[in-house]
Amino acid sequence: MKNIKIAIDGPAAAGKSTVAQLVAKQLNFVYIDTGAMYRAVTVYCLWNDIDCRDEQKVASVLDNINITLYPDHSISLNDRDVTKEIRSTIVNENVSYIAANKEVRYFLVKQQRKIAENVSVVMDGRDIGTYVLPNADVKIFQIASVDTRAKRRYLENIQKGIPCSLESITKELEKRDYIDSHRELAPLKKADDAISLDTSNMTIEEVVNAIMDIIYRKVGNVHA
Ligand code: DC
Repeated sequence: MKNIKIAIDGPAAAGKSTVAQLVAKQLNFVYIDTGAMYRAVTVYCLWNDIDCRDEQKVASVLDNINITLYPDHSISLNDRDVTKEIRSTIVNENVSYIAANKEVRYFLVKQQRKIAENVSVVMDGRDIGTYVLPNADVKIFQIASVDTRAKRRYLENIQKGIPCSLESITKELEKRDYIDSHRELAPLKKADDAISLDTSNMTIEEVVNAIMDIIYRKVGNVHA
């Protein structure tokens, strides 16, 4: 059977990764969290006191960066587990600068396309349907209101014991939405052939079911 590519794009904290992981599990496909890769590059720069806004300096260290994504969804950076570290506040605050860097995007997109070459994947990010996998078999554009996303992220943090305020999360999401959709390179944008899914009033289970329905309608029973 041919390898199937499923692209899930959308703004920060729209629940893409939770849903994409569950869809990948149901289909027995490989799940690729491309945001985690941009986050790992950010961690490398922070480790090495590199200003994430210094495009040339960041570009000059890319050859030293080795990112591995594991089937249990953990991630390592130069053989160190950074699964938790990539979600820290300081990484949230800096990752948009890294994601706007042309050389970083070239470096990571090449790896993302390579991973998707030989396996069926569910890949989530911002530019998967528009740029990384323009020929993806199914493209979903997953959105939710900023209030819904902020509330979800707030509850998630509280559950994990991470201190935060709803107001600051809302502000941070608005800022990231703005940077992600206004940058010159690969801005967050719905692909013309993507299906929009507004999950503001849906549970995770409902979103997964809706996406599974879209997949079955588009490509039939593709369980690997
Ligand atoms: O989905 P996330 O919050 O983990 O993404 C982290 C950052 O990386 C965010 O600022 C958007 C950016 N990103 C991107 O530009 N392209 C992708 N394919 C995935 C993420």
